[in-house]
Amino acid sequence: MGVSICFASGKGGVGKSTIVANLGIALARYKLKTVVVDGNLEGPSLGLIMGIKPNIASLHDVLSGEIGVESAMVKVDGLDVVVGELKVEGLLDINFELFERTIEDLEKKYEIVIVDCPPGLGRDAVVAISSCYEMVLVVTPEITSISEALKTIIIAKKLGTKIIGVIINKAGSKYDIPHERISDILELPILGVLPEDDEIKRALMEGKPVILLKPNSRFSREIEEVAAKLMERIYPYKPIS
Ligand SMILES: Nc1ncnc2c1ncn2[C@@H]1O[C@H](COP(=O)(O)OP(=O)(O)O)[C@@H](O)[C@H]1O
Ligand SMILES: [Mg+2]
Repeated sequence: MGVSICFASGKGGVGKSTIVANLGIALARYKLKTVVVDGNLEGPSLGLIMGIKPNIASLHDVLSGEIGVESAMVKVDGLDVVVGELKVEGLLDINFELFERTIEDLEKKYEIVIVDCPPGLGRDAVVAISSCYEMVLVVTPEITSISEALKTIIIAKKLGTKIIGVIINKAGSKYDIPHERISDILELPILGVLPEDDEIKRALMEGKPVILLKPNSRFSREIEEVAAKLMERIYPYKPIS
């Protein structure tokens, strides 16, 4: 059985999808069977960030019972990706009960299953969080992000999903809440501190994850560090390719 980890946040726009897209590619380089799933059913964006062409089979088709999840796989640089449907009509036939079963299916076939969560505490977020064994919290070093994150922590604890740590994204301003303070407030270890980086906007425009477009950028190197940390935790024996 593989391990499932959801990337969640209280507030939207903190960088979950950007992190999941790039981290997925970094993890797949360890020659682990890795899949990333766009669990943000109302606002999927992994396909856009990864430059995957639209109008392909999606998680929405899986959750409406039309197809099995293996028919919704796309490969990006050695990583399997399950995208979301961009058209709003895709939301009409969703059976939320299939979400957990789909993640269970993937845990049987993959060593790492990463789920990109919607923000907030709505039904879609709760289903995504409760379907995974573990969670990584993503915040920006701002009070608005931290205060919402505290709610996500409470929900994850109630749902029995283990929170393994926090990633601080868009860091580097002199007005950042000190990172150690964030760790203290959330009572979580820091898994990574990712800088605010304009290259991410360029990567989005070009439809190519920044780890492929600019592998030597600080953001890309920090993502590799996070991947190494996660690997150490879950599969300490696997060498990088
Ligand atoms: N480290 C960063 N530096 C600069 N821009 C970033 C960074 N991380 C994310 N972004 C940008 O912030 C916006 C929100 O990121 P996204 O990954 O979609 O967040 P979420 O999935 O949490 O809603 C996007 O425009 C993205 O390109
Ligand atoms: Mg997102």
